Amino acid sequence: MKIDILLGLQWGDEGKGKIVDVLTPKYNIVARFQGGPNAGHTLEFEGKKYVLRSVPSGIFQGKNINIIGNGVVIDPSLFKEEVEALETSGHDLKKRLFISKKAHLILPTHRFLDACYEAAKGDKKIGTTGKGIGPTYTEKVNRSGLRVGDILHNFDEKYEKVKKNHLRILQQYEFDDSALPTVEKAWFEGLKKLKEFEFIDSEHYINQAIKDNKKILAEGAQGTMLDIDFGSYPYVTSSNTISAGACLGLGVAPQKIGEVYGIFKAYCTRVGSGPFPTELFDEVGDILRQKGFEFGSVTGRPRRCGWLDLVALRYAIMINGVTQLIMMKSDVLDTFDTIKACVAYKIDGKEKTDFPFDIEEGVTPIYKELTGWKTDMTKMRSEDKFPQAFNDYVAFIEKELNVPVRIISIGPDREQTIMRK
Ligand code: GDP
Ligand code: IMO
Ligand code: MG
Repeated sequence: MKIDILLGLQWGDEGKGKIVDVLTPKYNIVARFQGGPNAGHTLEFEGKKYVLRSVPSGIFQGKNINIIGNGVVIDPSLFKEEVEALETSGHDLKKRLFISKKAHLILPTHRFLDACYEAAKGDKKIGTTGKGIGPTYTEKVNRSGLRVGDILHNFDEKYEKVKKNHLRILQQYEFDDSALPTVEKAWFEGLKKLKEFEFIDSEHYINQAIKDNKKILAEGAQGTMLDIDFGSYPYVTSSNTISAGACLGLGVAPQKIGEVYGIFKAYCTRVGSGPFPTELFDEVGDILRQKGFEFGSVTGRPRRCGWLDLVALRYAIMINGVTQLIMMKSDVLDTFDTIKACVAYKIDGKEKTDFPFDIEEGVTPIYKELTGWKTDMTKMRSEDKFPQAFNDYVAFIEKELNVPVRIISIGPDREQTIMRK
C-alpha cells in the first residue's frame, strides 16, 4: 500500500481541510506532515463550521486514526483550545489522535520572538501569523528545540534553559515580555492537555501501517508558493510544504508515495506580504474577496485576491509531482462575464512560461480571456449539469497543466463537491 498526499499548490487556504474531510472515508489514517497553528483548515457539514489548526482534518468522518507527524510544530495552549472546542461540539479525539514524539514544541517565547523579528523587518515584514512558526523551525534546525518526547523527562529543566536564552534575545530587542507569566500559565495547562494524548514513534507507526495495507492520507498545510525552498522567498513559511515534505514530516520513503492531490482555487489568494503577480486592486479583486469570503481563518486578515496564475501552478505541479488536480471555489466565478487566467509572464519585454527566481519586480502577467458561465453552480450535484462554458474553462486548465482535474468544489459544504468521471 502507498501513502497519498494532499497539498496546496498556491499560497495556502486552497480548501485543503474541506477536501481531506471529503476523502477521509477512503482512508484508515490521516496524518499532518508540517506546519503548525499558522494553518486554519475550514470544514463545513450539517450546517456547522469547524476550523482546525493542528488537528488533522480526518477527525470528523468515522473512527479513523489521525496523526500529528514529526514535521509539525505544536503550541500546547492553542492545541488545548482547539481540542476543547471539538470536545464541546461532541467530537472526542481520545484514542484517535496520536502525536509524534519528534514534533517540535512552540514555546511562549517563540511567539514573542516572532513578533520581534517581524517588527525589526519594518516594511519588509513577512506578515506572519504571529504564531511563533519561524523561530520554532529555526531552533529545530539550530538543534536547540524542544520536542514532544522531551515532555516525558526532566522537562522543566530543559524548558528553563531554552527560555533563558530566548529572554536574552528578547532583551536585546527591548521587547516587553511582561505578559509572559500569563501566557506561560496557559501554555503549561496546554501541556497537561497534550499529555492526555498518546505520544508515538510516528515513523514506525506509519511504516507498519503501510505494511499492514492501511490506507494513509498525508495532509499538508500552507501551500507550495509558501514553501521554504521553492516558494516566494523570503515571503514564505518555515517548512517544506511540498510533497517531499511529506516524506520528511512523516518518515516515509519516496517510493511509498502514491497519488499526489494538488489543490488550487479557480483564482488566487495570498495573506501576508510578498509578490503576487496576478493580484487585482480593482473591483474584480473586491468581488472575489467578498464572494469567496476571503478573510484569514487564523488572523481574520483580508486575503489579497487575483486571477488564476498558471505559470505558478505549472511550477507547483512540477515540484510536487501532482497526479490529480482538485479545483476549489469555482462558484466564486459564477457571475463574471469574462474570466482571466495568466498563461505567461512578461519580464524585460520577454515572454516567460517558466517560473522565475524573482517575481518581486517587473513581472507583467499575460492573460488568456475565457467566457464566463454566468450560472449558479452551488446546487449542482453532478458534472452532467455543468454549463458548457465551465467545462471549457476546466478543459483549458487541464490542457495548460497536463494533469486531470478530478474533483470540483462548488461551495464550502462537504456536499458541494463533485467527483469527475
Ligand atoms: P485550507 O487552509 O486550505 O484548508 O483552506 P481555508 O479553510 O483556510 O480556506 C478555504 C475557505 O474557503 C474556507 O472558508 C472554506 O469554507 C471555503 N471553501 C472551501 N471550498 C469552497 C468552495 O468550493 N466554494 C466556496 N465558496 N468556499 C469554499
Ligand atoms: P493554511 O494551512 C495562508 C503565511 C502568512 C505569511 C507567511 C509566513 O491554512 O493554508 P508564518 O506564520 O507561517 O511564519 O507566516 O505564510 N501563511 C499562510 N497563508 N494559509 C496558511 O495556512 C498560512 N500559514 C502561513 O500569512 O505570509
Ligand atoms: Mg487556511
